[in-house]
Amino acid sequence: MPPHYTFAPRIKLPPAPFRKTISQKQSLMQKQPEQSRMDKIVSLAKRRGFIFQSSEIYGGLNGFWDYGPLGVALKRNLKECWWHDMLTGHDELATLPGAPTPYEMTGLDCTIIMHPQVWKCSGHFDLFHDWLVDCRESKRRYRYDHLKGRWASHREKRVFVVTEQSGDEALVETAAKAQKFFGLRANKSSEIEWAKAMVPLAGNAPFAEALGPDAASPGTLTEPREFNLMFETRIGALAGNDDDRAFLRPETAQGIFMNFKNVVDTSRVRVPFGIGQIGKSFRNEITPRNFTFRSREFEQMEIEFFCKPNDSAAWYRFWRDRRWNWYLNLGLTPGRLQLREHDADELSHYSVGTADIEYAFPFLPDGEFGELEGIAHRGDFDLRSHMEGKLVRRDGELVVETDDAGKPRHRGSGKDLSYFDDISRERFVPHVIEPSAGADRAVLAFLCDAYHEDEVPDEDGKPRSRTVLKLHPRLAPLKVAILPLVKKDGMPEVAIDLYRKLKPQMATMYDEKGSIGRRYARQDEAGTPWCITVDGQTLADTTVTLRDRDSLTQVRVPLDECVDLLRSRLA
Ligand code: GAP
Repeated sequence: MPPHYTFAPRIKLPPAPFRKTISQKQSLMQKQPEQSRMDKIVSLAKRRGFIFQSSEIYGGLNGFWDYGPLGVALKRNLKECWWHDMLTGHDELATLPGAPTPYEMTGLDCTIIMHPQVWKCSGHFDLFHDWLVDCRESKRRYRYDHLKGRWASHREKRVFVVTEQSGDEALVETAAKAQKFFGLRANKSSEIEWAKAMVPLAGNAPFAEALGPDAASPGTLTEPREFNLMFETRIGALAGNDDDRAFLRPETAQGIFMNFKNVVDTSRVRVPFGIGQIGKSFRNEITPRNFTFRSREFEQMEIEFFCKPNDSAAWYRFWRDRRWNWYLNLGLTPGRLQLREHDADELSHYSVGTADIEYAFPFLPDGEFGELEGIAHRGDFDLRSHMEGKLVRRDGELVVETDDAGKPRHRGSGKDLSYFDDISRERFVPHVIEPSAGADRAVLAFLCDAYHEDEVPDEDGKPRSRTVLKLHPRLAPLKVAILPLVKKDGMPEVAIDLYRKLKPQMATMYDEKGSIGRRYARQDEAGTPWCITVDGQTLADTTVTLRDRDSLTQVRVPLDECVDLLRSRLA
């Protein structure tokens, strides 16, 4: 019998089943309390060109998403903020609050396909899998750790009704299924006797008595089987034998470990230092869902921070807090964000601490949070695994896993990845702190958080409902729109001249089509923080109206001060 949960080899040991976080407790978007809000966000994302389904004209491809004109700008801005704030903008001479010492940061861009041995030593080849269950009747496939249910009996019959849902939805769905299964009318449903608790399918019911979520009769679910989440591919023309077998990376982190020695040998960095990378990762998720939250192709923003073993606990706390503050500084609502330290039973065997930064996505029931980023203390596990071979914990120690013949199960590179500190004259294998964020999940969180509906007065002063994305100006796809009040009287000429001054400085749009109210509405939906209107008064006194998206204040500003003013607001 396999374990009851997903075993992901990196970052953390499998969490206790059904903890209140989406990684364990998937909730279907269409049945959750804030469903209409999420639907509106998804619809806005499509309508305004933020996010489209991949290959949509062929019916789409589950788990794959494209970013449209506004979406690509938002995502690039987000990644640019991360790269700037964590790497290029980092002051290497200062001791930041909470940091034990100053530290250096540098970047990398590694390949998606790497030597297959990378994944054998990292543990992904053996351990990066979910347990899946098939339904012979409905042909649907489920993650074993997402299935739960409760026992229902009526007269002599008894069945374990299985659901993928959470909370009240799970109760409603199982009640409806049981009523149908026992062939009862609604007014007889109280005759069904229920075991009190909703419990995981794993370990609580024989499969022969389990009524699958989409099945009409029990016994259609197959025994769980392992499913490795890595996408496999073949290298070269002569595809066919195991030597050609390669994998699309399921995380960007391993590329950094592969280049640890290269970076130390070729640059002047000294421990403590971090290497950051942004890039695509691929996971063949069994049940991609909740818009872009769980995709099969996504982007990660990862840092591997190398430090002395004795300082690693302090660095872990520093990075946890630094990454938490990054989301707050970019405007995520504090009440919708949660920092969750993993319990001891969730920690990887080599880790002294892992925390998840989680967001209350609107597709989740109240009180539930989904993971945005994990910050993990990884000890020396990764560098040692790539030196010595795949490691396992034995009697409290990390040792090389061996096969029946006593040889390493997965041989390491044999290269020395230790670090020599020429000041303290010490040699050691650095410990690693890993802040690992998802770019797509962050975009989704910022989109959800920015989405607001309110009322604004129209041109005649009557209240008009508006949809507005209150994105932080650094993230907003467009920073400013230049709008001539009317398409005549010399206003377009002045507006175009201002547009040309602003465009090289920031993402600027010129729009002269439609009423001014409609043009403001279009910019509000796109999240543009400022609009500048050129009107009759401009021609008289060379001032323009600067409208603020969030406060709706409109102030007159000298035309020739607009560029400097907006530049300073963006700085
Ligand atoms: N190197 C560590 C690592 O990959 P992880 O918790 O598996 O850790 C890190 O992934 C982050 O990557 C997650 O917090 C999440 O933001 C993002 N991520 C992981 N799987 C994802 C998926 N299927 N779709 C979108 N984002 C994902």
